[in-house]
Amino acid sequence: MLERMNHTMHEETRQGEAYAPFVNDPSAYNKKFYIESYGCAMNFADSEIVASILNENGFGATRNFEEADLILINTCSIREKAEQTVRKRLTELRKVKKHNSGALIGVLGCMAERLKGKLLEEEKLVDMVVGPDAYRSLPDLITEAGTGQKAVNVLLSRDETYADISPVRLDSNGVAGFVSIMRGCNNMCSFCVVPFTRGRERSRDPHSIIRECTDLFNSGYREVTLLGQNVDSYYWVSENLNSTQINGVSANSPSTGGGRGEAVTFANLLEMVAMIDPLLRVRFSTSHPKDITDDVLFTMAKYENICKYIHLPVQSGSTRVLQLMNRTYTREWYMAKVDRIMEIMPDCGISSDIIAGFCTETEEDHQDTLSIMQHSKYDMSYMFFYSERPGTLAARRYQDDIPEAIKKRRLDEIVKLQNALSRESNLKDLGKTFKVLIEGNSKRSDQDWMGRSSQNKVIVFPKEQYQLNKGQYVMVKVHDCTGATLIGKIEP
Ligand code: 5AD
Ligand code: SF4
Repeated sequence: MLERMNHTMHEETRQGEAYAPFVNDPSAYNKKFYIESYGCAMNFADSEIVASILNENGFGATRNFEEADLILINTCSIREKAEQTVRKRLTELRKVKKHNSGALIGVLGCMAERLKGKLLEEEKLVDMVVGPDAYRSLPDLITEAGTGQKAVNVLLSRDETYADISPVRLDSNGVAGFVSIMRGCNNMCSFCVVPFTRGRERSRDPHSIIRECTDLFNSGYREVTLLGQNVDSYYWVSENLNSTQINGVSANSPSTGGGRGEAVTFANLLEMVAMIDPLLRVRFSTSHPKDITDDVLFTMAKYENICKYIHLPVQSGSTRVLQLMNRTYTREWYMAKVDRIMEIMPDCGISSDIIAGFCTETEEDHQDTLSIMQHSKYDMSYMFFYSERPGTLAARRYQDDIPEAIKKRRLDEIVKLQNALSRESNLKDLGKTFKVLIEGNSKRSDQDWMGRSSQNKVIVFPKEQYQLNKGQYVMVKVHDCTGATLIGKIEP
């Protein structure tokens, strides 16, 4: 899975911050909606699709929920804590409804899918419940809820990709945008609720992906992140063989060795996006170690504008635990994959997701996790302790038998090690010069720019006398680092 924010370190920071959209021209719309998103980047991208559907139906965005006719919360179910956060927020918003009795409150996303009508009937927290594949029905549901009917649509689809909907960018910096390339997940990792809340995997038509990325580039964006639960299994089969020629790349391009040319693989897609313009950076998330191919790695190496950074969740370093997790690779297989990445792209950054205290995990298993982290030299990791999710394979088959204190202690050790690895990785960057895409002012000062290296590290540097703007590239020499940030100076 994927995260919108490049937070490091801890469970609490994993959930994306709630956010409210910018106010678009209010006179163009006769009603207002307010939306907050939680969880992964996919949810933030989905909210932009929802915004588009609502705009088409006369709703303009507002940042102020007190004046909204419609309040939406796009929710996450990945861990219990994520759901608790949303419940608390819904209870707060419920109070607003007392003052503004006409306002409708809707819950979207994974919690809607998991809990279905329960939020509406038993808990009476909301007026509408809309699952991730049902956003097209929002206008009808709003009408139903407006007349006091129960408005629920949690049908999952086998083919919905919202391919034809142009997302309305919410709260964007105008430089880096997210583009959803597929939905759902077929992997069935035993701890994970996503296959149940987001349904079967399906890939989006590459033409619409290229169109969306090109539109972003033409409106000033300089970076796209291709999003999917498991991007490496992106696979699209054309109905019309000729139509897979996009951007000069055909599906049977020799670099992929891809059969008779009827299919577009992730490597093909990456190449097509990279060819839109050398000034457009391409990122992607998330990769499953079992599916990332040499084709993808060679395509990354071939194009300077494909960022040298891979989020490659390991989850555990113990083969026995990996098997219980249904990850389908062993410790050795994962380590060989990391070695292969470094062989093909010696400057590639790698990050991970790690779960502490999965069912039956022993001290030895935990040590295996620590040592695989050392081997992989992660620049950054998202780290969690295991949270049992109802309905998952693990909840049905195994006992959540590691006491909380032990889970926390192990997580603590993982976090400490990651801090040390991140620091080591940053120290290695001192004295090096990186090509940085400027994203905007640094958080601390408008005298400083903030941007990222290809390896996805945040670099802050003084603007000095140079007349630069966000969206431009600049060479920056790193001379210092603090926590997760590199500090540099423009290289004239
Ligand atoms: N408990 C803890 N962490 C989980 N993740 C997914 N499900 C769970 C769970 N039940 C983590 C995995 C995944 C990331 C998005 O969230 O590490 O890669
Ligand atoms: Fe969940 Fe595994 Fe699919 Fe990721 S790959 S969404 S962890 S089932």
